[in-house]
Amino acid sequence: MQLRVAPSVLSADFLHLEKDIRMLNGNADWIHLDVMDGTFVPNMSFGFSVIDAIAPIAEIPMDVHFMVVHPERWFKHVAEKGVKYVSFHLEAAGRNTGKYIDELHALGVKAGVAIDPDIPVKRLFKYIGKADFFLIMSVFAGFGGQKFIYESIDRVAELKAAIVKAGSDALIEVDGGVGENNAAALREAGADVLVAGSSVFKSESPEKTIKALQNA
Ligand code: DX5
Ligand code: ZN
Repeated sequence: MQLRVAPSVLSADFLHLEKDIRMLNGNADWIHLDVMDGTFVPNMSFGFSVIDAIAPIAEIPMDVHFMVVHPERWFKHVAEKGVKYVSFHLEAAGRNTGKYIDELHALGVKAGVAIDPDIPVKRLFKYIGKADFFLIMSVFAGFGGQKFIYESIDRVAELKAAIVKAGSDALIEVDGGVGENNAAALREAGADVLVAGSSVFKSESPEKTIKALQNA
């Protein structure tokens, strides 16, 4: 199957956001929206003013990636905006992870559990069969434009093996430093969804880059 590509709006042109969202509508698979609170990660991005503005013109699924200490406070709001995929960090949720997955499901949202590169992949295993997708960070969460951490490929393979063994159909999303130079290796390792910020938006042809990533 073709890889799904979720361009990260963090790297879009905020003065011409409508133009970029319409370009994504016609070319990408999901719209990745990075919400940062300045506490869970040392950066702030955007919140509901931006998500609420995008929602009415989004024609492909919105994918919200919460990098905040209390993701559960905002589940209802994004669900009401029609967001289809929501991920939150295991590091933020801790032992509430299972509960948060249930809360998202009760709102009709697909639930994803995210981890930074320093968290052992094994810590995700107990959510296989419960979470709809897993987000493997291939840079430390907080900023676009960082260098891909190569070991992430092995982490994707390790998670994929556990998902297959369990007979689960959970998706693996990879986020951070993803581009044409590592997309094929990620697909071979078992990635299903590639988040791509700078590689798409800094490209001379974002449309062509999205296509190349889909067909990697
Ligand atoms: C980083 C974000 C990413 C970021 C990816 O914390 O979660 O989604 O926007 O940007 P690139 O593809 O430029 O690394
Ligand atoms: Zn992200």
